[in-house]
Amino acid sequence: MSGQARDRWAEWLLERRFGGDPVHRVSFLEGVVLWRERVLGNAAVQEGETLLDVGAGDGLIAFGALDLVGQDGRVVFSDISRNLLDHSRELAHEMGVEDRCEFLLVPADDLSAFDDASVDVVTTRSVLIYVENKRRSFEEFHRVLKPSGRLSIFEPINRFKQPGPPHLFEGYDVTPVQDLAEKVSAVFRRIQPMDEDPMLDFDERDLFDLAEDAGFAEVRLNYEASLVSDDAYFGIVDWNVFLRSAGNPKIPTLEEAMDEALTGEEIERFTAHLRPLVENARRRGTSALAYLWAVK
Ligand SMILES: C[S@@+](CC[C@H](N)C(=O)[O-])C[C@H]1O[C@@H](n2cnc3c(N)ncnc32)[C@H](O)[C@@H]1O
Repeated sequence: MSGQARDRWAEWLLERRFGGDPVHRVSFLEGVVLWRERVLGNAAVQEGETLLDVGAGDGLIAFGALDLVGQDGRVVFSDISRNLLDHSRELAHEMGVEDRCEFLLVPADDLSAFDDASVDVVTTRSVLIYVENKRRSFEEFHRVLKPSGRLSIFEPINRFKQPGPPHLFEGYDVTPVQDLAEKVSAVFRRIQPMDEDPMLDFDERDLFDLAEDAGFAEVRLNYEASLVSDDAYFGIVDWNVFLRSAGNPKIPTLEEAMDEALTGEEIERFTAHLRPLVENARRRGTSALAYLWAVK
């Protein structure tokens, strides 16, 4: 893959979510391991089972599942990013586990590559937020699962507390430069309009209803919402990392958004106010997450 342009999913998962910083990458990944444990724990994976991880990315859930399905089990990595599937295949080869893995380029809402009732477990983490047809995806998860098969999902609920008050930018109090914050925020809003973008058009109750409507016999939901003061955005207190990180694969970094929306003098003013808040973790952070698990 070296030398070639990667698709936006690979570019974000492997680089832009960490602001390209190897130190932040390590601390970020330490945090996501907890999500992996819960998704796999809720799936109650057994040895010898076949697990399909939808939107496997760089394999956070899928590689974790390999230990649980054991030598007689199989893990299918599926994604719409060929670059990420290639990346995971290379890793699986290096780890000597390739013979227990399969890599499939398929979207979450069209799993026609799979027969009905062909897998024991479906997992997916932070994928449905990017999928427009969430209803069809749940129907596909239900179809490919064997009787009594399990589904386990984790999704951030990004519409929680959105739109936020105008004096907060990513949770930082920007009252003295609110006009500039509004110009920068408008760049992000243009790309992801509230109520239209798949990342913002659903909440935890929709996930529950979609699982029920798809026909799952048992559905459980664990919803966690939090408000934290003196918090850092994804643990970032380095200004350059903050500038060069993108919140998701579809949006620019803060640096790119400022370049687009502000003049040179405005960038200086905005930075002079925001930088010390970032470096001192003076953020009022809100977040909401949903874990859903279901039995066919
Ligand atoms: C935030 S990443 C999560 C990756 C991985 N599940 C994890 O837990 O780290 C989102 C993943 O969903 C994939 N994706 C986006 N849209 C998709 C779709 N319609 N169907 C399947 N995968 C999709 C992306 O390529 C990316 O790998």
